[in-house]
Amino acid sequence: LDQKVKQNNWEDSNFINYKKMSENLAIIRGRLNRPLTYTEKILYSHLDDPHGQEIERGVSYLKLRPDRVACQDATAQMAILQFMSAGMPSVANPTTVHCDHLIEAQIGGAKDLERAININKEVYDFLSSACAKYNIGFWRPGSGIIHQILLENYAFPGGLLIGTDSHTPNAGGLGMAAIGVGGADAVDVMANLPWELKAPKVIGVKLTGKMSGWTSPKDVILKVAGILTVKGGTGAIVEYHGPGVDGISATGMGSICNMGAEIGATTSLFPFNDRMYDYLAATKRTAIGDFARQYAKELRADEGAEYDQFIEINLSELEPHINGPFTPDLATPISKFSEAVKANNWPEELKVGLIGSCTNSSYEDMSRAASIARDALNHGLKAKAAFTVTPGSEQIRATIARDGQLQTFEEFGGMVLANACGPCIGQWDRRDVKKGDANSIVSSYNRNFTGRNDGNPATHSFVTSPDLVVALTIAGSLHFNPLTDKLKDKDGNEFMLAPPTGDGLPSRGYDPGNNTYQAPPADRASVNVQVSPSSDRLQILSPFNAWDGKDALDMPILIKAQGKTTTDHISMAGPWLKYRGHLDNISNNMLIGAINEANGEANKIRNSTTDEWDAVPAVARDYKAKGIKWVVIGDWNYGEGSSREHAALEPRHLGGLAIITRSFARIHETNLKKQGMLPLTFADPADYDKIRPDDRIDLLCTELAVGKPMTMRVHPKDGKTFEVKLNHTFNEPQIEWFKNGSALNTMAKNAR
Ligand code: F3S
Repeated sequence: LDQKVKQNNWEDSNFINYKKMSENLAIIRGRLNRPLTYTEKILYSHLDDPHGQEIERGVSYLKLRPDRVACQDATAQMAILQFMSAGMPSVANPTTVHCDHLIEAQIGGAKDLERAININKEVYDFLSSACAKYNIGFWRPGSGIIHQILLENYAFPGGLLIGTDSHTPNAGGLGMAAIGVGGADAVDVMANLPWELKAPKVIGVKLTGKMSGWTSPKDVILKVAGILTVKGGTGAIVEYHGPGVDGISATGMGSICNMGAEIGATTSLFPFNDRMYDYLAATKRTAIGDFARQYAKELRADEGAEYDQFIEINLSELEPHINGPFTPDLATPISKFSEAVKANNWPEELKVGLIGSCTNSSYEDMSRAASIARDALNHGLKAKAAFTVTPGSEQIRATIARDGQLQTFEEFGGMVLANACGPCIGQWDRRDVKKGDANSIVSSYNRNFTGRNDGNPATHSFVTSPDLVVALTIAGSLHFNPLTDKLKDKDGNEFMLAPPTGDGLPSRGYDPGNNTYQAPPADRASVNVQVSPSSDRLQILSPFNAWDGKDALDMPILIKAQGKTTTDHISMAGPWLKYRGHLDNISNNMLIGAINEANGEANKIRNSTTDEWDAVPAVARDYKAKGIKWVVIGDWNYGEGSSREHAALEPRHLGGLAIITRSFARIHETNLKKQGMLPLTFADPADYDKIRPDDRIDLLCTELAVGKPMTMRVHPKDGKTFEVKLNHTFNEPQIEWFKNGSALNTMAKNAR
């Protein structure tokens, strides 16, 4: 097993280390003495300290060493800006960046791409030059969607990857544990810190039987989403297994894993099998397939491994499903769908059918979809609803252009969009309906929350397989069931659509299409990272100041936030996304969604130095300009929601010292520590109620020590000073972060 097999065809010095993984597993086996799930094998073989790590599913925090990092362009900006401030010459672990989120769909692939390249020029120039500088593989706009590129090029069985995008789990189609994270986690791994994950529980999904007819891999996850709901996978990895697995293509397994994000799962996984081997071979990675075969025993669950939860699905009986609207777990089998449309008063006319995206744009998906469109064309029919096709990658686009599926879609009336996220992430200049008009669209995407695709809250968005999207698009109606209903051909004769057919892999091999990859140059020292000082979208980060070593006295409370304060309240998305790479500009959204206890309003607080009411960011800026540190008082589970690091960077940037709450969402708490702030909790949660928004606060920072509470002195406006005990979860290394001003400052200091 002591062979050198490269991780991919793009990097010459990154190898798959099955030998080390198997040595680590031997250590773990000796300790746990029980059969392991495949999930556990991948995670535990990537432990930083396999001897000492405490391991209990659902309880321990694992310190892991991922094989790779991947970032998409929206999240990569702040991740790279932060990495830069660690002062390292290159990333410590293999990393790639993918330009896919910033391309708006308007009139078709080539033109849309050209427009996006102009609009986002400074962002792309920054990413491209920073990637060149820090030894990061850069996939230019037009290359395709991150998850498709990962599956085609970088995923390998048994690997562990983190990606700054929720649908990173797509790589589970090649047996890789691929986990979506926030930018701060990516920065840690880029800078060679171990990455922490709560040891997941494992949900086993056993597949038996074989799919046929109109049923496709997407229906497996549509069904699972119906069973587990949007919360059911939280804190767990979904591990598929059983005899049914071998009948599913690797790309089909990818679709299933991809949409596992919709049930909140940490990731989803399939064990290594021959279908993965075939896909590796078709994508010019036979050496990896052969290597994995030698190690196959460790690339699946042990006999008798136990799952925390168990589901069984018979693929022979699985019906095609349509999920939605507004939530991906409202699963309806096609046989019941027409009834559901009536019963719920969903708009029955189908306005737009959309296929492709990172979820469903494999060669197999495109071939099957094209077979249905061709069948309709042969009967003299075209798409009745509008129809769009998003190829997941340049390779897919070029291959279906060569093999004819793309022409079929165009002949059918479809518009082929850029190889990018497009309408899936709301990058869609939709003009066929007015905002507020109720209407239905159906896509082969994964997410269908209100307003996601077109910003219209009245759009009923459904997700299903590409096959059903095409079928419904022909009929132009949500009432159509291709398994039972007839259509009329151009002469008025009735006919039924034939069930879809199509090759899983292109018989003539993949056509790579245009070259869209930028490898880091050999001479990286001379590369200059391009950030214009006048840019409003990008800003180089300056290191935060180190702690002054003193207690902080007489601080104002910027805001006492009441009730739910999620990362969305702390750092809103929407139009602010544009400023993800510009800390000062995006800080203008800091806490504008939080409710002020003093007046029950959002974004209106009293400036203690002027007694005037103003917006939260404005008051914080005023304090900062006057050299006044401030604190925030928060309620339960402060910072829940996403792992967005901006929610921690912004208060730090605007001069905050501490966030004091009844409790924290764990990821946000860690993010605050990383940025050099003090996340503290009331030892007695009832003390929250004793604090008034206009009290003054002393924090005895010099008391900060592992496992010891900290004292807060509260000076009410009219009343007697009292003391409150605050708890924290800092460990020794994290205290260094606070002292040095941030985790990155600490890294930079240690690197010197
Ligand atoms: Fe992009 Fe949508 Fe996938 S935003 S990464 S195509 S889920």
